[in-house]
Amino acid sequence: MLRGSKVGLRARHEEDIPILRAELYNDVVNASRAEGGPWRPITPGSKDPRLVVDDQAQGSVPFSVVELEGGTLVGTATLWGIDNHNRVAHIGLGLLPSSRGQGYGSDVVAVLCHYGFVVRGLHRLQIETLADNAPMLRSAERNGFVREGVLRSSAWVMGEFLDEVLLGLLAQDWKPGSKA
Ligand SMILES: CC(C)(COP(=O)(O)OP(=O)(O)OC[C@H]1O[C@@H](n2cnc3c(N)ncnc32)[C@H](O)[C@@H]1OP(=O)(O)O)[C@@H](O)C(=O)NCCC(=O)NCCS
Repeated sequence: MLRGSKVGLRARHEEDIPILRAELYNDVVNASRAEGGPWRPITPGSKDPRLVVDDQAQGSVPFSVVELEGGTLVGTATLWGIDNHNRVAHIGLGLLPSSRGQGYGSDVVAVLCHYGFVVRGLHRLQIETLADNAPMLRSAERNGFVREGVLRSSAWVMGEFLDEVLLGLLAQDWKPGSKA
């Protein structure tokens, strides 16, 4: 398990799946905002790749996020779009509604940076998020990500086009353990 100050990132367990399906992916608004595609329901027992991890897939590494104290599941975190030639990847995260606003998001980003830069030897990490997602922007910027651009009207979300913000962090600018 990878450890931050409040959360740990571990493998997906079978018992995580019904909780993530019910609390994250069956929430139409949350899923529409976070996924970059149209919401559709996940059938119980299906091998939906959003929930069931394929350990052979090289391009993405999905984690379940747990509280260090007690081990309760609080969400998901993913290093995705891993490009080992350019040494670039993207990060994404989603916390269960009851676990938001307690500083876990910033800690998850910190642990994903450790995984990307230290464990995987990457050079650049990238985040795309909706321009109105203040907690995501703040979680990224606290860890040193900088806003590199606005993708105007790039996301169709629940009946309207929204802007996305592109943020990047280079390995040489990353300061482990210091959150601005
Ligand atoms: C986005 C998300 C991961 C952030 O995690 P979180 O644990 O809720 O965020 P934190 O508690 O670490 O807060 C991060 C910062 O945002 C600030 N913040 C939180 N809500 C805010 C709001 N509505 N407006 C402005 N700032 C806000 C916090 O004060 C904190 O700043 P600080 O460290 O300077 O005090 C989480 O809210 C989530 O899972 N949301 C739904 C899914 C999603 O949007 N995923 C991202 C897709 S790209």
